[in-house]
Amino acid sequence: MTSAMTSVYADRRARLAAQLGEGAIAIVPTAQVMPRNRDNDFPFRHDSYFYYLTGFTEPAAWLVLGADGHSTLFCQPKDVEREIWDGIRLGPEAAPATLGVDAAYSVDELNQRLPQLLENRSVVWWPFATHPGLESRVDGWLQKVRARVRYGALAPESQRDLCALLDEMRLVKDAHELDVMRRAARISAGAHVRAMRRCAAMLRAGQDVREYHLDAELWHEFRQHGAQFPAYGSIVAAGANACVLHYRADAAPIRDGELVLIDAGCELDGYASDITRTFPANGRFTGPQRALYELVLASQQAAIDATRAGARFTDPHEATVRVLTEGLFELGLLTRQAHGSVEDAIANRHYFAYYMHRTGHWLGMDVHDCGSYVEPAERGQVSERRDPLSGEIIKDRPARVLRPGMVLTIEPGLYVRPSAQAPEAFWNIGIRIEDDAVVTASGCELITRDVPVDADAIEALMRD
Ligand code: GLY
Ligand code: MN
Ligand code: MN
Repeated sequence: MTSAMTSVYADRRARLAAQLGEGAIAIVPTAQVMPRNRDNDFPFRHDSYFYYLTGFTEPAAWLVLGADGHSTLFCQPKDVEREIWDGIRLGPEAAPATLGVDAAYSVDELNQRLPQLLENRSVVWWPFATHPGLESRVDGWLQKVRARVRYGALAPESQRDLCALLDEMRLVKDAHELDVMRRAARISAGAHVRAMRRCAAMLRAGQDVREYHLDAELWHEFRQHGAQFPAYGSIVAAGANACVLHYRADAAPIRDGELVLIDAGCELDGYASDITRTFPANGRFTGPQRALYELVLASQQAAIDATRAGARFTDPHEATVRVLTEGLFELGLLTRQAHGSVEDAIANRHYFAYYMHRTGHWLGMDVHDCGSYVEPAERGQVSERRDPLSGEIIKDRPARVLRPGMVLTIEPGLYVRPSAQAPEAFWNIGIRIEDDAVVTASGCELITRDVPVDADAIEALMRD
């Protein structure tokens, strides 16, 4: 790791330490290795909080950070035999120089050293409800500290959720993070372009095209450009499968005349990207497909226009819902007779039959990234309303105010299942368009537009 990189993590540790409070200490483990079967594990992926503070990707590692800024890393010890099988380990001897931590020990010493580190501390912070078994490990260490109170040791009197501090820090991305996210977005956009072109080319050549053929194109492009893996299970949905929101790329045939919905993004150096495009398999939208597509695109533009510093997180969603609802009336999917006015259909959530998810989420190290969706300063302002569909009483709090450096997705969609209400021409059409946006002072920067979104531009790309 270069010294410039080391300082990114050191700076984050210093900012976190300054928030812990006098005499406090924080414990942050990385993820656990998940066994798959026998001696075969699932691919290891570090814990995002731990990586945010260390940039370290080996398993079996812990960071302990004091409020005075002193950092201690526990990591796998050097072991010639294990390294022959599993790869080179950094080891505690090299960790301070490489990662900029103040001290490092073998993870085998964790249970012996943690009680010592917790002694005479006021508060212990750790990420609640993130790692199964962590709570009982902290309990075990605290019991050992308590066993020493009769010798004058003080045990921490309270435990606090470290996620509360780290979530806020991770919500606003720094320059290093934005640089990685822009690169991840570019690779993912290239993968979508590749899948679109391949789909049309295979159909033109009369080949049997399956969802997995396009999934393979995505993987190829991700890996070709150094991305480690998909940031989430790629969705490649042919025809009616697009109406299943969490459909996974499978073996269904992709037929001439159908739409294909691809929701896929790579993870690059710990950061996710998240793009959806919907395109005609043969490269030409039919009339009904284009009508719905143009409506989703217009609703996305309204959401983009509503995304800027100072706006609320819910503003893009509300802008989307209005445009979609107006369009659903124009296309006959909602009717004045059955649903009243546009205002009625919004108030009663009639659009929900076709648009049943939110317009976005935070994006960062995790695809559905951490960060409160409520404005922290206004969390006490609670209002109540009755949900028109479920009848449930919902407690609302003022939504988060967007700030420069926050990153969110903008992903409206329409999903038309066969029903008596929907004109048959639209049945089984599912469309979603998703881009990743960095909030700026005056608007937002879309970092995923290296893959076209305009219907004509998609047709042109697939003709080439
Ligand atoms: N790909 C998951 C999502 O769009 O939220
Ligand atoms: Mn998304
Ligand atoms: Mn997505």
